[in-house]
Amino acid sequence: MQDRTLSSQSIRAFTRALQSFLEGPCTPTALGHWQKHLLSEGLSEYGVYVRQIKKLEPALWRNVRESLSQGQVESKLWLYQVLRDVLPPGSYSLHVGGGWTGTTALLGLWLLPDLIYECTSFDIDPSCEHVARSLNEPYSWNGKFRAETRDLKNFQFAPHQPQILLNTVCEHQSDFQSWYAQVPKGQFMVLQNNDFFDGRDHVNCVKNLREFEEQAPLSTVLFAGELSLFDYKRFMLVGVR
Ligand SMILES: C[S@@+](CC[C@H](N)C(=O)[O-])C[C@H]1O[C@@H](n2cnc3c(N)ncnc32)[C@H](O)[C@@H]1O
Repeated sequence: MQDRTLSSQSIRAFTRALQSFLEGPCTPTALGHWQKHLLSEGLSEYGVYVRQIKKLEPALWRNVRESLSQGQVESKLWLYQVLRDVLPPGSYSLHVGGGWTGTTALLGLWLLPDLIYECTSFDIDPSCEHVARSLNEPYSWNGKFRAETRDLKNFQFAPHQPQILLNTVCEHQSDFQSWYAQVPKGQFMVLQNNDFFDGRDHVNCVKNLREFEEQAPLSTVLFAGELSLFDYKRFMLVGVR
């Protein structure tokens, strides 16, 4: 696998195409044809990703499609754009809490290969481990990716290592305040929440950025902002606890 930076634009085009592909009467054979086309066009990362989807049980494709919805992808492209701007040069280990299908971690490896040397995607739902591991298998071989089953509250902090913790599932944490209280001071983190109160399992949404900042006061704020999506707003805080 090449270590080059993919652009947000080409990721956008690929994930949109993949989403509509998975929405239709998709078959492993059709995916196989598309995989070969992508590989022959020199789009190897995308071709390999399609190959990995093809290997998954089709019943799991719906979950993958949901994780590639426009709102999810735009939120992650925004996140990595901001990280590229604010992160001091270095080599970081990325830990994605609530990592779901492993797409957030993969986008980090695709977009910031010069800054992120390894990624762990962990989720409280044990079924996510299999999907994330399968989809990111090529990155497991070279030691850049790991999938685990873990609750955010059991994350092993190592404050003196160049470790970035991503939590883009704050809206899912009914125990957010107690979780946040046990994050060690000095931890570099990226947090996202939203005002989509009607979402499934959304038990900790916030009305606006100010409410989110009050929930998660950072000692150093490198970024605080909001992104308007189709039917909700996403809020993001980047900085040091
Ligand atoms: C719908 S998904 C992802 C939505 C999210 N906004 C994102 O950025 O990907 C929410 C995921 O968070 C996971 N999750 C919820 N609470 C968690 C916790 N305490 N620790 C780890 N994962 C958690 C769920 O199992 C699920 O896979």
